Amino acid sequence: MNVSAYFASLGIREEHFRLEQTHFDRESHLHGIAHTYRVMTHCLVLGAASGYHRESLIAFCGAFIHDMARQNDGRCEYHGQWAAERKLHQHSKRFFSEGITDGEVSVIAEIVTGHSLPGDVQVEKKNIPLAILKDADALDRIRLGEGNLKPEFLRLSQSGSFIGYAQALYCAATERASTCSFEEYLALSSALLRGVGSR
Ligand SMILES: [Fe+2]
Ligand SMILES: [Fe+2]
Repeated sequence: MNVSAYFASLGIREEHFRLEQTHFDRESHLHGIAHTYRVMTHCLVLGAASGYHRESLIAFCGAFIHDMARQNDGRCEYHGQWAAERKLHQHSKRFFSEGITDGEVSVIAEIVTGHSLPGDVQVEKKNIPLAILKDADALDRIRLGEGNLKPEFLRLSQSGSFIGYAQALYCAATERASTCSFEEYLALSSALLRGVGSR
């Protein structure tokens, strides 16, 4: 799977999705730029693997803002809602410039709100963007240590096969001296998923 090529095929530009610390309400090792770039990357990987291309683009945009309004690193049901309320309008211009429609921005608000709410997500057409965002976020729970990523809670049938990749991506990125750029995450993912098919 060439994640960089998949990203390009969605018609979006990397330079429009560069994160800065000032985008976030607070600095966080667990929920900051590196975590967000990995979740964005996992959204693309799940889109390529599942064939839910437009849904993965919506999830990707949601991932960009999903943890920007966190006020702490603990369990919090509301930081998704805060991000939808306070961060979406700051960044919706960049989404519109990538061809995201008004209706899709409303879906981004819903899934960003929903990503931190408890409860199951039924995997049906209307819930696919939320399922992708939640699974992409969950795949990066590997950073919290063994036992924190529960495969049985993953929603899409394809997600479980990417646990090893998610761990390898986290390890490869954290071995670097400085925070990887999003472009570097795309390249690392592509290298790790060489030989894995996309739909
Ligand atoms: Fe979150
Ligand atoms: Fe997150």
